[in-house]
Amino acid sequence: MSVTTTRARGNAAKSTTPAQSLTLTDLVKVYHGREDVPAVNGINLAIEPGELVALLGPSGCGKTTTLRMIAGLETVTSGSIRIGDREVSGLPAAKRGVGVGFESYALYPPMSVRDNLLYGLKARKVAGADKMVASISRRLEMDDMLDLRPAGLSSGQKQRVALARALVRNPPVLLLDEPLSHLDASARQRVRRELKVLQREFGYTTIVVTHDQVEALSLADRLAVMDAGVVQQFGTPDEVFDDPANLFVAQFVGEPQINVLRGVARVRDGRVQVEIGSNAGVLDTAAAGVADGTQVTVGIRPQDCALTATGAGGITATVAYFEHLLEFGLATSTVAGIEEGVVVQTPAAERYEPEQRVTVTAPPERVYLFDAGSGERLR
Ligand SMILES: Nc1ncnc2c1ncn2[C@@H]1O[C@H](COP(=O)(O)OP(=O)(O)OP(=O)(O)O)[C@@H](O)[C@H]1O
Ligand SMILES: [Mg+2]
Repeated sequence: MSVTTTRARGNAAKSTTPAQSLTLTDLVKVYHGREDVPAVNGINLAIEPGELVALLGPSGCGKTTTLRMIAGLETVTSGSIRIGDREVSGLPAAKRGVGVGFESYALYPPMSVRDNLLYGLKARKVAGADKMVASISRRLEMDDMLDLRPAGLSSGQKQRVALARALVRNPPVLLLDEPLSHLDASARQRVRRELKVLQREFGYTTIVVTHDQVEALSLADRLAVMDAGVVQQFGTPDEVFDDPANLFVAQFVGEPQINVLRGVARVRDGRVQVEIGSNAGVLDTAAAGVADGTQVTVGIRPQDCALTATGAGGITATVAYFEHLLEFGLATSTVAGIEEGVVVQTPAAERYEPEQRVTVTAPPERVYLFDAGSGERLR
């Protein structure tokens, strides 16, 4: 962090607008004709000045709608949007001080990319505009596009221009909707890194929408995981990964996906264990308030499981197949009495064979229990 700050001082591209907080309170959007399902159903988010938040969630969960409301491109049905201590939900888009890098963001077709980027800066008589555009263009790998017109750009190039244009506008709040989705894998990684560094240097309060969790994890200070118009969990990547609030979050974040198994809670000497499958064994958990005999949903991440020789406690299983993926292996095993295979991430040096009998173990605090009906976490 301090390294980036130091670097910012020596750079031409420097923020003049102090970072501002962004606070959404009970934000709701009901589209006309869609009164039955609100697109956004009561979002509360308190984003710190200069923070980068990734909004992560499945298609249709309301991410774009949320950004459009903040930007002023969509009306708010109810709730409040504050930038710093200013209520902006009633203001026209131009008065909000919000920069948007939406994919569809209009560029002026008759102007070159360079002129598109310079346009707003020159209008505001920003000193060092040419230098700033040159610096951002270099860092977003856009030098070869500067003399082209928007019509001649590929979708990945257009996306970078939209991103650069949002950055040079120097807004206190920056909203990016899938800013890297059209870039190829390697450009995507490089531009992602550069975006993060630029965001730090400029100090924008930023929301990046993505459905790519690697992108979310790599960029974000905090993640807001959304489903069905509601934020399901808001926390640092570690908090969301290590301490999921509910089954949705547990399943949405994490690759390979978390194992989800049906189980029955057993309370022994005041400690909650969970029985999985039929006579396959039990796992200790760190949960406390679960009554003996409760049907629960059990979540265990492949990264948290280990395989040991049989008989060491844990769940008895049979390897169905084994994938050796260089840095690690994935052993998918069957457990008597349950349909789902249990995926275990194994160390690179280990090899397993189909039909091999194994025992699956996991640390108690990494065995998550969820209400079998609502999916809420049982702690
Ligand atoms: N202009 C609109 N009129 C009516 N319904 C809309 C409109 N825009 C979006 N919706 C609906 O609102 C819900 C949320 O859409 P939104 O575009 O915000 O989702 P999203 O999370 O951005 O999805 P994606 O990841 O596919 O971009 C969806 O059910 C969508 O069909
Ligand atoms: Mg969207």
